[in-house]
Amino acid sequence: MLLRMARPIQYLGIGFVVIVILGLAIAPFSKRLIEQWSRSDVEARSRLVYNAIQNPVVRAIADGDASRMSSIFEGVALDERILAVGLCDDGGRLLYPTRLMPATFTCDKVARSEAESFATIINDGRRIMVGAFPIVERNQKAYLVILTDLSFIDARSGEAQAFVVIALAGVAIAVAGVAAIFVIVLLRGWMGSLRRAIEDVRSGALPSTASGNKSSIDGQIKKLLSEIELGRETIRSEQIEWSPAALQKLLHKLLPGAEVLVVSNREPYIHNCNDGKISVQTPASGLVSALEPVIRACGGTWIAHGSGGADRETVDRDDKIGVPPGDPSYALRRIWITEEEQDGYYYGLANEGLWPLCHIAFVRPQFREADWRFYETINERFADAVAQEAKTENPIVLVQDYHFALAPRMIRQRLPKATIITFWHIPWPNAETFSICPWKERIIEGLLGSTILGFHTQFHCNNFFETVDRFVESRIDREHASVASGGHETLVRAYPISIEWPPKALVGQPPIDECRRQVRQSLGLAADTRLAVGIERFDYTKGILDRMRAVDDLLIRVPAWRRRFTFVQVAAPTRSKLSSYSNLQNEAVALAEDINARHGDGAYQPIRLLVRHHEAEEVFKLFRAADVCIVSSLHDGMNLVAKEFVAARDDDDGVLVLSSFTGAARELSEALIVNPYNTLEMSSALDVALQMPASERQERMRLMRLQVRERNVYRWAGRMLIDAAASRQRRRILDISEANHAR
Ligand code: G6P
Repeated sequence: MLLRMARPIQYLGIGFVVIVILGLAIAPFSKRLIEQWSRSDVEARSRLVYNAIQNPVVRAIADGDASRMSSIFEGVALDERILAVGLCDDGGRLLYPTRLMPATFTCDKVARSEAESFATIINDGRRIMVGAFPIVERNQKAYLVILTDLSFIDARSGEAQAFVVIALAGVAIAVAGVAAIFVIVLLRGWMGSLRRAIEDVRSGALPSTASGNKSSIDGQIKKLLSEIELGRETIRSEQIEWSPAALQKLLHKLLPGAEVLVVSNREPYIHNCNDGKISVQTPASGLVSALEPVIRACGGTWIAHGSGGADRETVDRDDKIGVPPGDPSYALRRIWITEEEQDGYYYGLANEGLWPLCHIAFVRPQFREADWRFYETINERFADAVAQEAKTENPIVLVQDYHFALAPRMIRQRLPKATIITFWHIPWPNAETFSICPWKERIIEGLLGSTILGFHTQFHCNNFFETVDRFVESRIDREHASVASGGHETLVRAYPISIEWPPKALVGQPPIDECRRQVRQSLGLAADTRLAVGIERFDYTKGILDRMRAVDDLLIRVPAWRRRFTFVQVAAPTRSKLSSYSNLQNEAVALAEDINARHGDGAYQPIRLLVRHHEAEEVFKLFRAADVCIVSSLHDGMNLVAKEFVAARDDDDGVLVLSSFTGAARELSEALIVNPYNTLEMSSALDVALQMPASERQERMRLMRLQVRERNVYRWAGRMLIDAAASRQRRRILDISEANHAR
């Protein structure tokens, strides 16, 4: 802004200087000009007088009539400019001088020539012009002398100079005025943007509540609406400060009256029965932790597998329950799945087939015909549930993840006008890899029943385009990021998922020092022990063994860390029925024991493996207590643990060691990015992290927090809703145009 202001001000300054220089140059020039003009004027007047009185003067000389001569001369001298008139005879005598003829004037000051002549004399400090005009009478020569006072010239040129100065000063003042107004206008604009920027920063630092910054959200959404209404679908989600309130407003304004239905395998609240008592558990699932705040904000119905031991006991006649428990804001509709179905659909096709197929973790995918049939059955069941739950013909259905690749098309068949937004939470492999899947065409066609299909990264979108191109008949429009197939168009876009901001689990957390103290005490560690944590499901894609090997390597290469450093791995058991998972657990336990045996002693255990589910509050306390968080996934769609660690650190401290094979690495570039397959690289990063100066830690963490705060999960959902609204509008226009053509 300042740079933009500098150039015009420069020009105005130059203009001002030029005017001053002009003024200085013009002043003497104008004086000379006026002197010349005035002299010619005086000469012309004298000449006029001479011509007018020449004949009467000649006659008076001839008649020797002195009194006539005097009266002629006095008459002429009445002119205000003419000072005196007289006649110089041939002998140099002054005859008939008028009353004001200066006493010092003598005829020898007059040039005696055949023609008129003019001379300037000074009398009493005044300049006087003497004009001499020859008069000839009978061979006698005389000169009519006309004296004109020139002091009026000085007054006139003084006035002219003053005029020039005033005029130029006026111009200069006008120029300065314009410059001042210009600067004020620019400065006001600049101050305005500065104020807005400060407001933005301020409001960002204090996240808005549901009722806060209402009018600004209103304004933003109105603007978005008008953009959409104008057919400009280029809404920049950066314009909005994303919060639950902003998301609600957006939904109500862009998609008025739309009902929201969520479909996922994992449910957000699981009821279990322990010792005759029912308890609620929130699962370790990135999908759930991202989506739950969104549906809390939007309301609606979440359709998911009722997997908890006490789930059936807690639902109503329609298999529904209001959640969150104690403060319900949406309905959870539970779908029942038999153990056999679960083995085929969930463990088999989804987790032994699609999960390893989509993750490059070198675990061989298993595809079984029977699993596929269960997969189809369960997808049908969920599609039926959507149709049952829908109160309108065009709900917004948010279909989640690889468990439901067939559901979008099935829902489309039941509710052709629904807006189906499918999000694939895991990576999408390249076409070559995907071609392993025996039902690749069916999976792609199923997904293409969606209105919008979202992935975490553009890279995964590109892989999907490539796969579609290879295996199904379709028209791919890469410019508009869409695939048309079977008369239906699907937008395929990248929507990087995130977490709520500020996270619910942060509420009520003790201060950082207290977390550090409590966690170290509960683990029996010395107060000054340096702590690294890893927190996730016990999944082979997470690189848990690899990070343990890195800890081992660090303790071998830098023995000084022994007894001063501990690594805590929280691993929630998951999919344990599958050998790929149970083997991993066994291997990890064995590796931890081995490392502890080699580097530890009775009291000191460098690796603490805590194999149990931790609720979000416990996880956040660990994050706050840690010096370092290690996320070493071998392949991960996004990885929300990395973002949760950043969100937990409201002290702007702590170092994140992050695998380059996570979607999160594209956003959190201030983390120490590592290749988890490279043990030395990871152990070196751990060493660097443990020694990093506080100022660097804080600088990195501040930038990452800014990123996660702005690109939170409300933005993730909001961007999809914006695209959904635009797509609905396009659909409406197409319907109208088709109806018109049909007439
Ligand atoms: C990943 C998947 C989710 C899944 C979560 C937990 O994040 O993308 O769909 O819910 O893992 O796995 P689980 O099988 O326990 O639901």
